[in-house]
Amino acid sequence: MKNGMITSSSREQTLALAAQFAHRLKGGEIVFLRGPIGAGKTVFVKGIAQSLGVKGSPTSASFSLLKAYRNKQYCLFHIDLFRLEEGEVFNLGFEEMLEDEKAIILAEWPDPVARMLPQDRLEMNFVLKEGNEREIYLSSYGRVSDALLEYLCKTVKK
Ligand SMILES: Nc1ncnc2c1ncn2[C@@H]1O[C@H](COP(=O)(O)OP(=O)(O)O)[C@@H](O)[C@H]1O
Ligand SMILES: [Mg+2]
Repeated sequence: MKNGMITSSSREQTLALAAQFAHRLKGGEIVFLRGPIGAGKTVFVKGIAQSLGVKGSPTSASFSLLKAYRNKQYCLFHIDLFRLEEGEVFNLGFEEMLEDEKAIILAEWPDPVARMLPQDRLEMNFVLKEGNEREIYLSSYGRVSDALLEYLCKTVKK
């Protein structure tokens, strides 16, 4: 397990951070996005989608719990389980998603499904500070996510 913290001062900076992060994604990564409403979780997902060049733009105002955004190279799965609880979430199509080598899984409010997903995941906890300031606390739980965390922290320091 590794830990780290990065900061963002604007929506644009979070988008840029996400775009950088996307360069490092190959498929097979899982990211949990935590933090209150308006913290910037969906902005981060949008930045990744833009950078990967997948079709469509992830949004938060949606009743779909799982959405897929694809191109030839990647398949970005955006999960948003706001207000749901464990036991309320069934048949999201996880089997297919987890077998897909190209799958990059980004999950907001992931608790209802956390136990159905592999351990090795990067957790990003967005904390609201004054104005547009955000602190993003990172924790990783395995080989793949440890490397992602290191990359993200190094990229930001540059
Ligand atoms: N540093 C920042 N990073 C991301 N979003 C920011 C930042 N500062 C202000 N914002 C604004 O905060 C809101 C974040 O919304 P959103 O990403 O949908 O939040 P969440 O998905 O965490 O509920 C957007 O309106 C965005 O413009
Ligand atoms: Mg959101």
